[in-house]
Amino acid sequence: MTLTAPAYAKINLSLRIHHRRADGFHALSTRMAALTLADTLTMRLEGAPGHVSLTCSDPSIPVDAGNLVVQAVTRLAAATGPLPGLAIHLEKRIPHGAGLGGGSSDAAVALRLALQLSERSLSEPEMRALAAQLGSDVPFFLHGGIADCHGRGEEVQPCAGLVLGGPILLIKLPFGVPTPWAYSQWQSARELPGIDYQPQRLEEMELVNDLERPVFQKHLVLALLKQTLRAQSGVRAALMSGSGSTVFAVLTEDADLASLTQTIHETVGSEVWIQPTRLAG
Ligand code: C5P
Repeated sequence: MTLTAPAYAKINLSLRIHHRRADGFHALSTRMAALTLADTLTMRLEGAPGHVSLTCSDPSIPVDAGNLVVQAVTRLAAATGPLPGLAIHLEKRIPHGAGLGGGSSDAAVALRLALQLSERSLSEPEMRALAAQLGSDVPFFLHGGIADCHGRGEEVQPCAGLVLGGPILLIKLPFGVPTPWAYSQWQSARELPGIDYQPQRLEEMELVNDLERPVFQKHLVLALLKQTLRAQSGVRAALMSGSGSTVFAVLTEDADLASLTQTIHETVGSEVWIQPTRLAG
């Protein structure tokens, strides 16, 4: 039997950091939203019991024990007992080091598919605990949709009834931002003069990201990109997602994508990944 499932990307519609905790993580409140942009995970029973093999369409991504997908299956086996042999393929569309949660989403889907294929069962709290061990964002991807997350991000409260229509444009420059670095700079970082970090009101929401401060201080081009996007017609709001480097723009339905793309190229150069998407229903 072969199972295939999408692993959706996310953006952070808001990310507020409260303080650095004794364990080194940061206490935060973040509103995450799943996007239609997704990797695809395929998993089938293959090989000797306990054996896991992973292949990936992106050769720059490690497929050894360092990959969160392999870690997900390994931790599941530790919790439920040895699993049958599993062959996993990952078709990547979500860039990494992007603040879009690609690796975390892949891990959440790997947990779900491995559980299904091996005919094991775990309670919801056990599943959530396992996901949280893999990463702060992983529990969110067990839910998807829009959710408010607290703690270090692993306490997930789905936002029933909250919707945000319209296209979303993702823009990623050809560098990533290491998440631990962004958090480690949060306390000491300063705002750049002339850059607006204030919350942007959008329907019932306030879009704001406290990690813009450290990341923009190092990567001025991202601050410039956000400011430029916000000044364009058809752009309702623009913000960095997570620890970057993706900046997203929430667009009106009639926004002119060709003209926005041209403006982005004029602002940051041609070596940039631009992806239209929407919130996943
Ligand atoms: O949980 P995750 O493995 O995704 O976190 C990666 C790193 O990001 C952590 O090791 C930590 O340095 C930082 N982080 C943090 N506070 C959070 C989430 C992540 O300091 N709430």
